[in-house]
Amino acid sequence: MAIRPARRITDTSPKNFGMFSKAIGLPGDLIHLELGMPAEDTPQHIKNATIAALQAGHVHYSDLQGLPELRLALSHKLKHQNAINVIADDILVTNGLTQGSFAAFMSFLDEGDEVLLLAPYYPQHIGKAELAGAKVTFAPLDAANGFSINRALIEPLITSATRVIVLINPCNPTGRVYSHSELQIIANLVQEYDLLVISDEVYEEITYGTPHISIASLPDMKERTISLFAFTKAYAMDGWRLGYVVAAEALMPPLLKITTNEVTHVNTFIQYGALAAVTGDTLVLANMVARDRERRDLVVGRLNQMPGVTCGDVQGAIYAFPDIKATGLNAQECADRLLRDTGVVVEAGSFYGAAGEGHLRVCFGCAEIDVLTDAMDRMQRFFNSL
Ligand SMILES: Cc1ncc(COP(=O)(O)O)c(C=O)c1O
Repeated sequence: MAIRPARRITDTSPKNFGMFSKAIGLPGDLIHLELGMPAEDTPQHIKNATIAALQAGHVHYSDLQGLPELRLALSHKLKHQNAINVIADDILVTNGLTQGSFAAFMSFLDEGDEVLLLAPYYPQHIGKAELAGAKVTFAPLDAANGFSINRALIEPLITSATRVIVLINPCNPTGRVYSHSELQIIANLVQEYDLLVISDEVYEEITYGTPHISIASLPDMKERTISLFAFTKAYAMDGWRLGYVVAAEALMPPLLKITTNEVTHVNTFIQYGALAAVTGDTLVLANMVARDRERRDLVVGRLNQMPGVTCGDVQGAIYAFPDIKATGLNAQECADRLLRDTGVVVEAGSFYGAAGEGHLRVCFGCAEIDVLTDAMDRMQRFFNSL
């Protein structure tokens, strides 16, 4: 048969939507806390700037790398906020973080290369690495140590085929914001073993007191890091599909080769919305994060009152990752029974790899306080009844 899917399609894992695909279409009064979709609306000034750009006729092809004025504004943000010293040409605007990560994997991985993910991991990175021909390996972090970065757990997984370590900071699903010394462990490893870091910082703005540090700001790391950012979570712009990649001069041409062939460039007029986000009132962002903090406090507090459930500190992102081992249920059983018995949809920790077994991932950033309260009441009754 001449017409057949390419092997790179058939030989890679299918995209898996976990509990979302189990719950979707089920009858009843479900509360969805399984997807990381912000509850907020996109701030009005961002919408206004986009509409104005559309009305002003910014509807044509634009700069392949992204609007120069947006990249200039982002370079200032990166210098002041992330301590990454870059110019506008070191930035590539992408369709969400997803396209940036796809470009990064496609640009720097060959058939047979290995890419190391810290586990629990973000499953959607796996398919992209596999499409690039790479083999994915996992370094399981230890729940008992708050899923902190520990050299002894990572170094044994590095082989002569390893080319990339993927970092998610702040971390989905664990809620960790890595300290300088934890990041230094990764920096030391990539320098000693001549590797590259793909650093997913989609939650950089959503932290609750622990400062976010970009690994590219550590000494000698700019040349070894592809930093991925997006407007998705902080500005509640998940449907806009808008993000950006930051890479040193030598690393940019491969990325551009992928993205220009793939999409030419990102939609022109929405980039004016992004410009308004970067240059606009920072209070808007602070208020949104303050509301996430209220949601976090409610959910973490309530989870810790449930028998058999222990929820550690959530330093960043929009997920609680409670330990439910004391209930005697495994993670998938627990998530399935919560769906069946209470209508609350949460993700099983094992969806993020074996290192997440014994946990649930509860997204608190995707619902308003009254909905979260209802979900916590239902979960409380469920755990009381076990
Ligand atoms: C760690 C992580 N990376 C990337 C993404 C996807 O980001 P985007 O919607 O900007 O492609 C998500 C969304 O949940 C995420 O949690």
